[in-house]
Amino acid sequence: MTAELDELLSLARTVADEARALLRDVRPQRVEAKRNPRDLVTEWDTRAEELIRARLIAATPEIPILGEEGGGAVTAPRRWLVDPIDGTVNFAHGLPIWSVALALEGPDGVEVGVVTAPALGWTFWGRRGGGAFADRGRGVERLAVSAVDALERSLLVTGFPSDRATAKVNNFAEWEHFQRVAGGCRRLGSASLDLCLVAAGALDGYWERGLSPWDIAAGALFVEEAGGIVTDTRGGRFRAASGEAVAAGGGIHEAIVHELARVGRAAVTPEEST
Ligand code: IPD
Ligand code: CA
Repeated sequence: MTAELDELLSLARTVADEARALLRDVRPQRVEAKRNPRDLVTEWDTRAEELIRARLIAATPEIPILGEEGGGAVTAPRRWLVDPIDGTVNFAHGLPIWSVALALEGPDGVEVGVVTAPALGWTFWGRRGGGAFADRGRGVERLAVSAVDALERSLLVTGFPSDRATAKVNNFAEWEHFQRVAGGCRRLGSASLDLCLVAAGALDGYWERGLSPWDIAAGALFVEEAGGIVTDTRGGRFRAASGEAVAAGGGIHEAIVHELARVGRAAVTPEEST
């Protein structure tokens, strides 16, 4: 199993390298809205996903693929999860915080992951049980989450769903609350990179809801392999398909879950709770 996963990780890294080379110097000409005006797709999302799919199908025809732009394996027990550009809004504006995310998810969780940020020159990778690593232009580093043990000293990161203007799950109350109780709170615009930076200890914790599995699968693996904890927003088992995660070092993970529960209770009006 370990040898097989090492091979699949090596394949994912090669494919991510090709996608990085494709995307590194491009600027989109065509930016279109999908489900709402904040949910964007460019010609490069489509082209990168086509490239990644072609390479994965050629090398592992037995493993189905679920990709953001092309859909696919919604329920397969083992599948590749592909986000050709995570942070398309940043990409469309020329802001370099976006990434390509690939993960292999099996019945017991994420097995292998690669996240590469072409415009930053950063790549992160990891395999279940084998640690998480990065190359951010100064050699290979093994990732380790931060040891911060108090929310008021922590730097957190989160994101907001593209349908936030109308959706009930919009993260606004949570954002406001953590701006008060945490040392700092950021919104960078690429969930995969948010999780990579938690795994690297540059950010102390992350929470978000309303995501898709390809946004969080690879990064969640890295946080765990870097010694951190990843759960759903109630502290239960993490599943990429749930589209939500709380990820942090052991020093503050429980506190983030606790504060999210407080915000949730405060949001329930008396009529809703009866
Ligand atoms: C988005 C990013 C962002 C998150 C959004 C996602 P996309 O992914 O991950 O950080 O807050 O909810 O939709 O659409 O750019 O791949
Ligand atoms: Ca995307």
